[in-house]
Amino acid sequence: MSIKKISAIAIAGLLAASVVATVAQDAFVAPATPEEAVEARQALMREDGGILRSAAGLSGAEAVAAMQTIKTNYSHIPALFPEGSIVGDSEALPAIWENWDAFVAIAKSGEDAAAAAAAAAEAGDADGYAAALKTLGGTCGACHQQFRG
Ligand code: HEC
Repeated sequence: MSIKKISAIAIAGLLAASVVATVAQDAFVAPATPEEAVEARQALMREDGGILRSAAGLSGAEAVAAMQTIKTNYSHIPALFPEGSIVGDSEALPAIWENWDAFVAIAKSGEDAAAAAAAAAEAGDADGYAAALKTLGGTCGACHQQFRG
């Protein structure tokens, strides 16, 4: 095989690897139906709840990874609430779409708090981590109070 051919194959391999890496980083696909949206957001909420319950006991790389997962999950919240998607056992309230900006703002503040918690954990700042966790936890209740029936 010529050097040219070998390097072409190597480059193709590298490109394929980088596509896989990009997908693996955030494989999020917006739901196609209201049923899918409800299922996906309920699963996301349960995952966040599970992580948050153990988060106070984490530190270092484990805490960073946990907070990055929550940050990514929070960034998906708006896309998981397509307008009027109240089907099946959904507890979502119509208020979500009547106050969309407020709904998105709570999700964004949670995303920021998770990022702050990850940064604090990375820096070994236990107090900063605890404070950011508290802010993050506050966004769960703030949103449920207004937007979950
Ligand atoms: C921006 C708004 C918002 C935020 C932030 C939010 N939630 Fe929710 N959550 C909802 C809504 C709306 C529902 C109802 C979804 C449905 O049933 O369609 C819900 C549902 C849930 C459920 C029920 C899932 C099920 O199986 O039915 C749990 C558990 C939950 N949230 C936990 C959390 C936790 C823990 C946090 C914080 C880490 C959180 N949520 C943050 C809006 C939010």
